[in-house]
Amino acid sequence: MEKNGKKRYALVGCGSRARFFYEAVATTYSATSEMTAFCDISQTRMDFANALLEKNGAAKVPTYRHTEFEKMIRETRPDYVIVTTVDRNHDHFIIKAMEMGVDVITEKPMTIDEEKAQNIIDAQKRTGRGLRVTFNYRYAPHNTKVRELIMDDTIGDVLSIHFEWLLDTKHGADYYRRWHRNKHNSGGMLVHKSTHHFDLVNFWLADTPKRVFAMGDLMFYGMKNAEKRGVTDFYDRAHGNVAAKNDPFAIDLASEDNMRKMYLEAEADSGYVRDRSVFSDDVAIEDVMGVLVRYNKGALLTYSLNTFLPWEGFNVVFNGTKGRIELKVVERSYVSGRDSIVHQGATDKEALYVFPQFAEAYKVDIPHGEGGHGGGDPILLNDIFGVPRPDPFNRAASHVDGAMSILTGIAANKSIASGMAVDIATLVRF
Ligand SMILES: NC(=O)c1ccc[n+]([C@@H]2O[C@H](COP(=O)([O-])OP(=O)(O)OC[C@H]3O[C@@H](n4cnc5c(N)ncnc54)[C@H](O)[C@@H]3O)[C@@H](O)[C@H]2O)c1
Repeated sequence: MEKNGKKRYALVGCGSRARFFYEAVATTYSATSEMTAFCDISQTRMDFANALLEKNGAAKVPTYRHTEFEKMIRETRPDYVIVTTVDRNHDHFIIKAMEMGVDVITEKPMTIDEEKAQNIIDAQKRTGRGLRVTFNYRYAPHNTKVRELIMDDTIGDVLSIHFEWLLDTKHGADYYRRWHRNKHNSGGMLVHKSTHHFDLVNFWLADTPKRVFAMGDLMFYGMKNAEKRGVTDFYDRAHGNVAAKNDPFAIDLASEDNMRKMYLEAEADSGYVRDRSVFSDDVAIEDVMGVLVRYNKGALLTYSLNTFLPWEGFNVVFNGTKGRIELKVVERSYVSGRDSIVHQGATDKEALYVFPQFAEAYKVDIPHGEGGHGGGDPILLNDIFGVPRPDPFNRAASHVDGAMSILTGIAANKSIASGMAVDIATLVRF
């Protein structure tokens, strides 16, 4: 902490998610926090981040290339490093920061495979530094409410959970245009995206996964499915390509100021093309996934993720010895290309019901939450940058929570590849 009493944050990875952190530091939490530096492969993206700091009334900070990460820590002496790079290299920056005596706040997923997870766990033990994974969904009021109901023994012991997550053709499709489309970068959807969902199950049940069996395939996106989807006009990237004009899955990077400045104008110094066709031949992750998980206390989870659906959100049910909880959450309406359709039946934003074993069912009121990820984002920010209130739900997630939430997806990836069930205990040692 500096003489001015402010906590100091350096950030590596100045893409879109980074804004969530540095803009909060520059605005809501500016009395207690300050940014000290940015690090990225792209000078253009760091300049854009600095412009946003200035726009928010904060001072510009020094910028460092990715090869100068250690120099940045030596020169700017942050209390915390915030890691918002691509998933593939979270481990590198987390470990380096901890070895240099700095605590870390990392975006999910903590990392993408078991070797990297083990290296992080070992480095945390060796250095004793703090490592926090920002699981915003835990803080969404509907998700916290479910934790409360289960903690209060409302439905007895939970014996099984049925959980389906839906991603739509706007947000869901985006993973197939970007770096996420390669497992080497993201661990695939069962790590990159499902880390949120498996963390929620671990949090809701206060339990950890034991055994995992999974199947998954690329059945909607990718070149092998293009003909079935009626695609005849192939292109590699949308910008400057007439074929993209008729593709409802294409995005136009030039049409929106932030996208243009952050990605199109940064192509020259980062090499990163953000608007690839979802039907190109190097899409190498699944879009239809089913996972079966046995938990250590005995509960059974059946989980599915589909990434091409008409609405986005989730349905989850908990079957307990004294009743059943059902939660449905619609996260956004269907948006396909330029049209926006709110589907009948998908308009009910949140619905939480308890069905006691031998009594009338009732609807549970959910406190209203503003902001991203079901209202979880602003509460998470206060927990990180503000003065957190005592939390009976223990929502702040440690590196152990971060690891447990990715191990289900890592095991699922192995299970898809081998056709066999995978024991979580064989993956890492804590
Ligand atoms: N919690 C959430 O809800 C949530 C939402 C979105 C993204 N995320 C996470 O945030 C992270 C970033 O995602 P994004 O959508 O901002 O991606 P992005 O592609 O917009 O940004 C990634 C940034 O990392 C930089 N980068 C890549 N390699 C680097 C390296 N070796 N050294 C330094 N910088 C490097 C890129 O240049 C880019 O600026 C991911 O881990 C993602 O999972 C979390």
